Amino acid sequence: MKHVVVLTGAGISAESGLKTFRDSDGLWEGYDIMEVATPEGWRKNQELVLDFYNMRRKAAMEAQPNAAHYALVELESKYKVSIITQNVDDLHDRAGSTNIIHLHGELFKSRSTINPRLTYRINGWQLKQGDTCEKGSQLRPDIVWFGEAVPMMDLALKITKTADIFMVIGTSLQVYPAAGLVDDVPESSRIFVIDPNLPAIRNKENVVQLSEKAGTGVVKIIQKLLSEVD
Ligand code: APR
Repeated sequence: MKHVVVLTGAGISAESGLKTFRDSDGLWEGYDIMEVATPEGWRKNQELVLDFYNMRRKAAMEAQPNAAHYALVELESKYKVSIITQNVDDLHDRAGSTNIIHLHGELFKSRSTINPRLTYRINGWQLKQGDTCEKGSQLRPDIVWFGEAVPMMDLALKITKTADIFMVIGTSLQVYPAAGLVDDVPESSRIFVIDPNLPAIRNKENVVQLSEKAGTGVVKIIQKLLSEVD
């Protein structure tokens, strides 16, 4: 089976009703990244950070996977599929994809502030001050904040290097190291980019770009890929 590696960003969840970051009315229009998505912001005002992720968790609970998420599940019928997502929502998981790397963490997980290996599932949408780990320390969102290491990056790089086909869906490719994965796609691989506002892909041959929303563009590309395999 050929291996399709898929890098997704906030744009794949846009048609599910979840805000992106850098589009107009995006999350970074309403919030200061430094205050809600950095260790410094956490140290300064835990309540503000907890509220920011509670609001996003509530929205994610009310959202449903869309046609693009489901098309990626269908692709597994004829290809090996590895999803490398920058998204912290659980829409790929709920759609039924079986091989997902959450590069930037997961909204529905919390983690101890004295031992990062202690992580817990968040049931419901709220993580509050006073919610503590088994060692008694305050729980934080299990999200990779700006300035923090990306623990899954080595694995993501390893997987990218084995891609026969690489898909880039709904990401502005503004944030590293995630955006750098495109540079590590093997020269022989085919690359498909789907985004109504296409990001630049440099120094790569064999790139097909579709200036469309994920809900239609991803379905089209996946139908084409499925038709190529008996
Ligand atoms: N279908 C496909 N793509 C879309 C759609 C849609 N319906 N709507 C918007 N987009 C595209 C935008 O054109 C843009 O290229 O989705 C992309 C969203 O870009 P960003 O808002 O920058 O989100 P993303 O690339 O996922 O951000 C990466 O930045 O803030 C950090 O950690 C955060 O994971 C996030 C990272």
